[in-house]
Amino acid sequence: MRIERARGTRDFLPAEMLKRRIMEAKMRDIAEKWGYEEIRTPTFELAELFTLKSGEEILKNMYEFKDKGGRHLALRPELTAPVIRMYVNELKMAPKPVKVYYFGNCFRYEEPQRARYREFWQFGAEIIGSDSPEAQAEIIALAFYCLKSLGIKAELYVGHVGLIREVLQAANMEEAEINKVMNLIDKGEREAVVEFMGGIGTERELIDDLISLVDLKGKDALNEARALKIIASNNDALKELEMLLKIIDYYDIVYTLNLGIARGLDYYTGMVFEIYKADGKLGAQNQVCGGGSYRLAALFGGADTPSTGFAFGIDRLAEIFPLETDDLKRKEVVVVPIKEKNRNPDVIKEAIKIASELREFFPTHMDVMSRSLSAQLSYANAINASFAVFVGKKEVKEGKVTLRNLDTGVQEKMSVEECVERIRNQV
Ligand code: HAM
Repeated sequence: MRIERARGTRDFLPAEMLKRRIMEAKMRDIAEKWGYEEIRTPTFELAELFTLKSGEEILKNMYEFKDKGGRHLALRPELTAPVIRMYVNELKMAPKPVKVYYFGNCFRYEEPQRARYREFWQFGAEIIGSDSPEAQAEIIALAFYCLKSLGIKAELYVGHVGLIREVLQAANMEEAEINKVMNLIDKGEREAVVEFMGGIGTERELIDDLISLVDLKGKDALNEARALKIIASNNDALKELEMLLKIIDYYDIVYTLNLGIARGLDYYTGMVFEIYKADGKLGAQNQVCGGGSYRLAALFGGADTPSTGFAFGIDRLAEIFPLETDDLKRKEVVVVPIKEKNRNPDVIKEAIKIASELREFFPTHMDVMSRSLSAQLSYANAINASFAVFVGKKEVKEGKVTLRNLDTGVQEKMSVEECVERIRNQV
């Protein structure tokens, strides 16, 4: 019986894994250079970690289940809530700000389509202990530099949910109603916003102003927002955003201000940002990164702690990662123990010794199928190996090996040390 993969999941073959490892190494290198440290949290958590504050969109897409002990668990749909839970449980005494990064798989029960999966990978970073404009700018800059290290060009949009939330709070809306409106704004459903707010009795003028606010984009958006009646002249979010944009400029980063960014998760309180690859290469699912400021620690039993972070969708990045083929070429060596009629333990012993030495430096294969010399050579050709090292009875006696360059066909007998040296010089 042929068993298919579960819907929305994928298998990653060696070439894809190699590409992902290369990408991961580049992003890890940047995060480390910015002073962030890697952490890892469990793949599943108590479901309430996410139900407390993650937002409607994620909750309806969560893989949740009862374990044999009757606990209500969920496969993580994202990593920010787990990271803050970990911080509250394990790291709250650490010097602030705590700066961490992570790679991990996430699970969302969504309708699978191009670049949207039920199991996908995120790479993210969080600054825990600050959501100052400096922290917010650093997080945006870190995301920008990670993308740059991959050679990917994409558009960065920065906004501030504090602005929208302040307006909705001033209109005396309840938290759940506010989240509902934020969710509709995130989905770009302006008419549904008007209908919903009208339905709960919000004044028409305020609704119109809100729609004008979330439609503001570009250089003049701040001034235009200031001119709106619903924005108080001493609006804190606006002041914070102004300072943030100034600091982002110091990082020399190109961005577009977009006051309509609402994000699909309910926990954001301040700056929010999203990065899109909008040149058609990713189709409809073209958001490669999302992030912002939030306060989750108090909700999970810790002190109120401002935090800022982001997460990239690695699967989407992998689709557009411009691959340097040089990065992928690994020179491989095949050690060929030459058997006569039967296996010769002395030859195998020597071949293993040589393979172990070579493995200090290069990916090295050795026959495990007791194949003939010609069968071992055709395997070496089939896997595109660069060198073959022959070990036969004669070689063992002389303490030598025969090295063949599989690209040129040239071969020569030499000592093991020289063989290692020769390959090293040619790799
Ligand atoms: P998010 O926007 O829900 O934010 O997800 C981050 C990124 O994960 C998205 O921009 C997208 O590239 C990728 N992604 C999301 N869903 C899928 C999917 N079904 N298939 C493939 N890729 C997907 C968060 O998760 C927040 N925790 C980000 C954050 C960190 N905010 C603060 N700190």
